[in-house]
Amino acid sequence: MKMKRIGLLTSGGDCPGMNACIRSVVRTAIYKGLEVYGIFKGYQGLIEGQVKALDRRSVSNILTHGGTMLKTARSPEFKTAAGQNKAKRVIEQNGLEGLVVIGGDGSFRGAHRLWQRWKFPVIGVPATIDNDINGTDATIGADTAVDTALYAIDKIRDTVTSLERIFVIEVMGRGSGYIALEVGLAGGAEDIIIPERRYNIDKMCADIRTGHKKGKISWIIVVAEGAASAADVAAKITRKTHLETRVSVLGHIQRGGSPSADDRILATHLGAEAVKCLIRGERDKMVGMVNNRVKTVDLSYAVKKKKINTEVLYRLIRILAL
Ligand code: ADP
Ligand code: F6P
Repeated sequence: MKMKRIGLLTSGGDCPGMNACIRSVVRTAIYKGLEVYGIFKGYQGLIEGQVKALDRRSVSNILTHGGTMLKTARSPEFKTAAGQNKAKRVIEQNGLEGLVVIGGDGSFRGAHRLWQRWKFPVIGVPATIDNDINGTDATIGADTAVDTALYAIDKIRDTVTSLERIFVIEVMGRGSGYIALEVGLAGGAEDIIIPERRYNIDKMCADIRTGHKKGKISWIIVVAEGAASAADVAAKITRKTHLETRVSVLGHIQRGGSPSADDRILATHLGAEAVKCLIRGERDKMVGMVNNRVKTVDLSYAVKKKKINTEVLYRLIRILAL
């Protein structure tokens, strides 16, 4: 039987481009003759019944905005069977026949539970600044986050150069060094510290001392928050080199702001495709972009730890820091 009504939610960390994706899902669904219900505050809102019909005008003027008009949440309750049961009741009460989940790997684990337990049709759209999802070259929000972090680092470099200082700059990424690697390369950092590879503070300090003797006085070290705290790294460097060190933690500015063109385009393609997947009868999948082509993969594959080759980029960053 033809699907008539679908739900849509954003979950986990917000990111730039979620709104562009919401707009694409809502308008594509309406164009295809479906009714769309927005679920506010992610899985927590689903449990609490925060559900509202959306029309084509509900998503006017959101394309350029960061964050998510549907709000988002981290819901420990949804991780429990009892929470999922409540959510399923709300799904039934609202006559939802499918669900688009825009979020990261945690959100996909949640969606996968709805499929596993009730064979409820779910499609995931990857949206996280961490770009750590399998089955897609890029996740919505990552491009904007890298641009934002780079913009900040470029400004810090002015002080680094003028005062000849060592700066340790902390960027986001709890389990992912994606932002650190990208801005490390694009911003000309001398070194980076990421969760995917061990770092040796003694070696780093020895390099700084050697560089210092040769006249290299300005250093930028980019640290992904999941690998170390910038404050700790800076304290160790000062202790071991006796050189003045400063810390800058960029924080959540990286998650906000108007999405880049690339993020809007990615979000728009993936949102539209998610609706088409549900209509085609695909279930328990994620839509991703691989080599500029939209692709679907199993949600269980999407959430597996992404293997990225950090060595090539890391080595290049170090060579160029000569
Ligand atoms: P992200 O989607 O950005 O990775 P989280 O990891 O915080 O963010 O996950 C978002 C939400 O997804 C969680 O708050 C929880 O409600 C749900 N979730 C995460 N993991 C699971 C799981 N194993 N089972 C059920 N729900 C989950
Ligand atoms: O969404 C991913 C992310 O932004 C990570 O890069 C970061 O470590 C984490 O979320 C921060 O989460 P919170 O918003 O709960 O501080």
